[in-house]
Amino acid sequence: MHSRMVCAGCDTARPADELLSFSCPNRGQGEADHVLRVELSPETIVAGWPQDTLSSDENAFVRYRKLSHSWHLATARGITDAEYVAMAEELGERLSEVEGKPLGITPALRSEELATAIKNETANISGSHKARHLIGTALHLEIADRLGAKTRDSVLAIASCGNAALAAAVVAKAAGRRLRVFIPPNAAEAVVAKLEALGAEQVVCERLESDPAGDPCYLRFVEAVTGGALPLSCQGGDNALALIGGQSLGWEMVEQYREDLPTDIFVQVGGGALASSLIQAFSMAHRAGIIDALPRFHAVQTANAHPLVRAWKLLRASGESVAEARAKRASFMWPWESEPVSIAGGILDDETYDWLSILTGLVESHGSALVVSEERLREAQAIAQSTTRIQVDATGTSGFAGLLQARSSGSLPKDARPLVLFTGAIR
Ligand SMILES: Cc1ncc(COP(=O)(O)O)c(C=O)c1O
Ligand SMILES: [Zn+2]
Repeated sequence: MHSRMVCAGCDTARPADELLSFSCPNRGQGEADHVLRVELSPETIVAGWPQDTLSSDENAFVRYRKLSHSWHLATARGITDAEYVAMAEELGERLSEVEGKPLGITPALRSEELATAIKNETANISGSHKARHLIGTALHLEIADRLGAKTRDSVLAIASCGNAALAAAVVAKAAGRRLRVFIPPNAAEAVVAKLEALGAEQVVCERLESDPAGDPCYLRFVEAVTGGALPLSCQGGDNALALIGGQSLGWEMVEQYREDLPTDIFVQVGGGALASSLIQAFSMAHRAGIIDALPRFHAVQTANAHPLVRAWKLLRASGESVAEARAKRASFMWPWESEPVSIAGGILDDETYDWLSILTGLVESHGSALVVSEERLREAQAIAQSTTRIQVDATGTSGFAGLLQARSSGSLPKDARPLVLFTGAIR
């Protein structure tokens, strides 16, 4: 096998032939955070890198298949490349039918006015990058079934009432699978209606007297998974397969921006799967020599909830390495104390689950982690919308808010060539 799933918390590699590497079995043990990540050797990346010219109507899960753990697992176990392509294409076609538009490569733009490159994920299936995490997971489940797993016997589960839930509902429908979505009592009506139209089962989660601290939707989701449901979720700790699909975004960006590589990438961070998938893809591409330099990554969170920025500052102040910090989780990462509110609701996770991988990437790339105010978030969304005419939401422009912040504080070098991601469309 040229690809493996390894725990960022305890370095344990999952068995090469494991069909469903959702999470590290050592989770909950010791002080470390057990989140699996995907590792591909530099030779694998060079060998799997697409040679033909990228065209916008391609299916990224076909184009970058040889850079995915799912493909390496499949072909090591006897599935042919042609069979894999057929499965990825079939899923792509079903997604296009459900969505009413083709699955394609999302636009890589450059805005002279905003002086930044913009990767537009609002054009993705279901209107956000979240679809990538879940398409990758759904494809992996098909592969696993072909190899003998019986995942169709299980319901899929997710706790979300935003972009992730909508993406999960589209993907589950396209894959012909049952999905249970755990939502809060105050979920937006528009989202509830869409989930219903897509045939997703909804479980409204009130806080129970007996509940420990934390989001009741997430608690019910964990109970469901413990009871046999499979996670169709976007958090790396519960569903490491989400990172496989997430990396397709990184590969796509490396290819699109390779000729004029950005020096600085500002990425919004909630649970952290987006940033960790991206950072890992870029750093693997760098190690493989596909790109000459690794852009500096900047993680952006709201002033109202920034557990990752807090961890970054604590790490800096301690003078410790990420390797030293990971054994002392409680000193770096804990749930945000107050109930956070923000117009960028998608990045309000009270913990950053993938913090170890992200901090590693920030250190390796000489990047940073920064907070933005609500005012800055509003400003960023307004400027982005009026300049680009893209109907992007405030979470979707929160990385761009980070760029504005870095510019105004003078921390961005004058000759920087930044890149931001517009990750979610207005509903
Ligand atoms: C539009 C959008 N962008 C970014 C994020 C943050 O992604 P992550 O939770 O993987 O850090 C989210 C998460 O909900 C989102 O909906
Ligand atoms: Zn582990």
